[in-house]
Amino acid sequence: MSFKVGFDMKRKRGNIKRIWLIFASMIFLITSCTENNNTPQTEQPKDYSKAPKGFPPIPFPADNPYSKAKFELGRRLFYDSILVKDYSFKSCSHCLKQAHNFQDNVPNSLGYNKIPEPRNTMSLTNVAYFDKIFWDGRGKRIEQPAYRSLFLPYIFATDTNELQKRLENHPIYPKLFKEAFGDSAKPTAWNVALAISTFVRCLVSGNSPYDKYVRGDTNALTESQKRGMKLFFSERTKCSVCHSGFLFTDLQFHNTGTTNHYFDFGRYYVTGKYEDRNKFLTPSLRNVEVSAPYLHDGTYKTLEEVIENYNRGGFPTINKDTLIKPLNLTDQEKQDLINFLKALTDWEFLTNPDFAEPK
Ligand code: HEC
Repeated sequence: MSFKVGFDMKRKRGNIKRIWLIFASMIFLITSCTENNNTPQTEQPKDYSKAPKGFPPIPFPADNPYSKAKFELGRRLFYDSILVKDYSFKSCSHCLKQAHNFQDNVPNSLGYNKIPEPRNTMSLTNVAYFDKIFWDGRGKRIEQPAYRSLFLPYIFATDTNELQKRLENHPIYPKLFKEAFGDSAKPTAWNVALAISTFVRCLVSGNSPYDKYVRGDTNALTESQKRGMKLFFSERTKCSVCHSGFLFTDLQFHNTGTTNHYFDFGRYYVTGKYEDRNKFLTPSLRNVEVSAPYLHDGTYKTLEEVIENYNRGGFPTINKDTLIKPLNLTDQEKQDLINFLKALTDWEFLTNPDFAEPK
């Protein structure tokens, strides 16, 4: 490249621009090459502590604030069999599967001792915003079950001292715990729970066609989905009374009459009140398309079955909610409702490699 003096100002500026452009593209090429050659799978994830547009900020608790290092550590642990007594499955991800909306695709999950869980596993998606967790609402914050899962015999069944030893002797975990919790930090069971909870709080899904529609993209929904949306938010169906707000749940307990006879009394076990018998936490409907089987007991296999139950007004049963009444939906209306539920599927979230098992 030659640098001649004496050009007029315009050409000079043009040349400087061109040189900058070449220089910038060289830098770009060099950096992208090194990234491709040396660190293909360690490309840093985006900042998942930020909520999607239209969502409130993710509430990270003061005693377990977000950090990228904690997210990465939590993610690794979420998929690592090191947490399980006999290393026989990949810890949390065994029952909380990304492709199935971070829940299980069987009615009763199996942990370490292979005794089926009595209830259908609830989703982790958007759980950061829930002020109560589990079908009966007995849980308050994610750290509790994250910690208890480690040693409960029907989940990972590990001895917490043994777990700490395993992690201390691991080639990379001691470094990751230091990055996440400071230089003097040890890989204790509690720190495991804190890191996993940080990862879980970042599992926020808010980019479905419905969200795009709400943000102004009128083409994001099909005509049938738009009709289904109207029905969903209508006085007639009252779906959105319970499945309300950006989470599609009121975070309250109801009985929707899905059977004549409940074997599980739900919220009653927590409060001991007769009026809470057979009531369960309203589940969020985000990504419901991929989260079959449905309900607290996983007895409904398809969305068609769920809609059919609302259409018949539920089965007569103790404490059935007064909102659940026959709807007289036409076949087209049922299909429109189902199509609307499918507009709540956020494929970006369900296939995001940053939430998947690290390479
Ligand atoms: C009275 C409150 C209430 C109303 C009204 C209501 N739901 Fe529900 N919905 C719930 C509760 C509670 C459950 C869980 C019931 C259970 O597990 O026994 C549920 C479960 C579901 C499920 C299964 C989700 C899962 O992950 O298992 C779908 C789908 C659903 N409702 C859609 C609808 C639609 C569509 C309407 C309107 C036609 C509607 N709901 C009206 C409270 C309600």
